[in-house]
Parts: sequence; C-alpha cells; structure tokens
Amino acid sequence: MDEPIGKMEAHNKVPRGFLVLLFGLIAFGVYYIAAYTPGISGWSQYKVFSKEIAEDKANAAAGTAKMTENPYERDEKSIAEGKLLFAERCARCHGKDLKGGVGPSLVGHLKYGEIDGKKFESISEGRPGGMPAFGTELGRDRIWKVLAYVDSVREYGKKP
Ligand code: HEC
Repeated sequence: MDEPIGKMEAHNKVPRGFLVLLFGLIAFGVYYIAAYTPGISGWSQYKVFSKEIAEDKANAAAGTAKMTENPYERDEKSIAEGKLLFAERCARCHGKDLKGGVGPSLVGHLKYGEIDGKKFESISEGRPGGMPAFGTELGRDRIWKVLAYVDSVREYGKKP
C-alpha cells in the first residue's frame, strides 16, 4: 500500500451511531449545565432544601409525618411497658427470650431491616412470612414501646 496516510484515513467514515452518541452527549451536557445553573434556570439547592423543610413542617402540623425514630428508646418506663406487651402478644411466636420459635429470633440479624422505621413497619404492617399486622391493635405508641423493649434486649442481651 503506497497511498498517502491522509487518503487512507478518508476511507474510514465515522460510524453514524458514534456521531449520534457524541452529539447526544454534548446536547445532554449543555442541557444539564443549564438546568442546574442558578443563573440560567433559577434552580438552586437552597430552594429545593427550603421546599423540603416547608413540606416537613406542614406534615408535622397535620400530624401525618412518618416517625422514623423511636421516641421511647432507652426510656425505662416505656421499656417496662413494652416488656409486658411483648409477653402478652409476641412471646408465643418469638419466644420469651426473643430468640425465636414459630417466628424468627429478634436478637440477631433482622432481614426486613434493623433501623427503627423498618422494625416499626414489620410490627405495624406485618410481614408475608407469618408476621401479623399490629398497627390497629396496638397503635403507634405501643408499637414504639414494644420496640423499645425489643431493642433494649438486642443491645444489652448480646453482652456475654
Ligand atoms: C403468630 C406469630 C407471631 C406473632 C404473634 C408475632 N410475630 Fe413477629 N414474626 C412472625 C413471623 C413468622 C415472622 C417472619 C416473617 C417473614 O419472614 O416474612 C415475624 C417477623 C417479625 C419481625 C421482622 C423480623 C425480621 O427478620 O426482619 C419483627 C420485628 C417482629 N416479627 C416483631 C414482632 C413483635 C414485636 C410482635 C408482638 C407485637 C410480634 N412480632 C408478634 C410471627 C409472629
């Protein structure tokens, strides 16, 4: 082959798909920068943030906020109440010592989640493998109390 290099290059057309992708990405980049530049679109992290705060406040005022943290955690009186509730309604399946029976152990890993919100959900809405929903029977307060007890055992019960 003694064609000059420049001519050989000219034989290889850039594939159409590549061009489409290239210009697509450039267009997206331009759009993205414009959309998130406060000077151009008016978008601002502060506006997003203050909107979220406003929504939270509205929810709190209406009492519809989903609580995600146990208000009774480590509260001795609530833990004592929770212990009674547990013995009455949960022990027959989860065992008096919480180590399991018909239902799984509550002192080890919890497959549906170990953060307060998820544990609350397990108790209030139930779980498909045989965990009944206690939402209406116990109500929010008593679920948090029973959970405060369960968590106290999870925390202190692990110590040798
Ligand atoms: C009728 C038996 C039964 C009763 C009563 C019961 N549970 Fe359960 N519970 C289960 C079963 C079975 C599961 C496992 C469900 C699954 O795997 O889908 C479970 C799951 C759970 C879980 C989630 C565990 C995980 O691995 O994520 C929690 C938390 C829980 N129960 C707490 C309680 C509490 C607190 C009470 C009392 C208010 C209670 N349960 C009463 C049978 C019961």
